[in-house]
Amino acid sequence: MLPYRRLRESCGGRARLAAVTADDVTSTTDRPRPDSARLLVTGGRGQLGRALTTLAPAARGLAHADLDITDPDAVRAFVNPGDVLINCAAYTAVDRAETEVEAAFAVNATGPRVLAQACAEKGARLIHLSTDYVFPGTGAHPYEPDDPTGPATVYGRSKLAGEQAVLEFAPDAQIVRTAWVYTGVGADFVATMRRLERERDTLTVVRDQIGSPTYALDLAAGLLELAGKPGTPRILHATNAGQASWFDLARAVFAGLGADPERVQPCGTEDFPRPAPRPAYSVLSGNSWAAAGLAPLRHWKLALNDALAAVSDYPGPP
Ligand SMILES: NC(=O)c1ccc[n+]([C@@H]2O[C@H](COP(=O)([O-])OP(=O)(O)OC[C@H]3O[C@@H](n4cnc5c(N)ncnc54)[C@H](OP(=O)(O)O)[C@@H]3O)[C@@H](O)[C@H]2O)c1
Repeated sequence: MLPYRRLRESCGGRARLAAVTADDVTSTTDRPRPDSARLLVTGGRGQLGRALTTLAPAARGLAHADLDITDPDAVRAFVNPGDVLINCAAYTAVDRAETEVEAAFAVNATGPRVLAQACAEKGARLIHLSTDYVFPGTGAHPYEPDDPTGPATVYGRSKLAGEQAVLEFAPDAQIVRTAWVYTGVGADFVATMRRLERERDTLTVVRDQIGSPTYALDLAAGLLELAGKPGTPRILHATNAGQASWFDLARAVFAGLGADPERVQPCGTEDFPRPAPRPAYSVLSGNSWAAAGLAPLRHWKLALNDALAAVSDYPGPP
């Protein structure tokens, strides 16, 4: 197993953390009061929120129970001048959103507007997470930030509405679109493949959906670098490099576990009908990230190997 500390270093954590682990971030041992925190992570108990607070333990991770991002008074009470707030809170149940439209828009559209207004009012900086689902998902080339959007799902429409609110209400905010995020722990795709490798002889996985598998710790390290670098373009894309189908990713997980990848067989989207249509192609280009002077995220296969080596050390969901 790759020791967890080494993993943090190998994903670039140490170098990139230098910008945000300085004195301006308070220590968790000295439980910060709302008015003393400098790096805030909303949605702090989610997949990405946990990755961020793992790499930056002095950051203040706010669970849903600590702060509901749709509550303007509560948000205003937490945000202070000079804070950097990374918003990982979201309604992420893509299929359920098709019928829970109001709930999805409350968290993904109203929430970011509330955060953007509070950050603008208090002189704090907002970094807001968004998704490849804002695009139609029918492309043939990696999406750039200024490519036309056109979400095909309620989740995608709600996230796009959140982006628009952030752009309108917080002039200093950045939006970071990402995709296919995993830790390998819990119930994400990589964790599910690990479980199925133990439970099943064979399985079928869709081959006709292509995207950008992204290790949460790599993304978190990139976001922490961005947190130390104001003035970048307003919309950026951040994923591990390269592209894959879910089938490719599943086979890579099996191979990484030392199992026979041939146990994973391909199938088509039509074999797994879902309430929300999944994009056939939603790879995000890393050009905007590199052009902003931010360290490119490594290839997804390298990241996956480290993720698999580190799962036993990785802090699981609460
Ligand atoms: N995971 C992916 O593959 C992926 C892909 C593209 C983009 N993204 C984006 O990346 C960001 C982080 O995603 P993630 O995978 O970390 O999501 P996640 O694991 O589902 O975490 C989201 C967190 O938001 C919290 N939350 C929900 N409603 C809230 C509210 N009103 N106020 C405060 N917190 C609330 C949830 O808490 P409760 O569970 O307690 O409600 C949960 O802990 C999101 O913006 C997501 O859209 C994710």
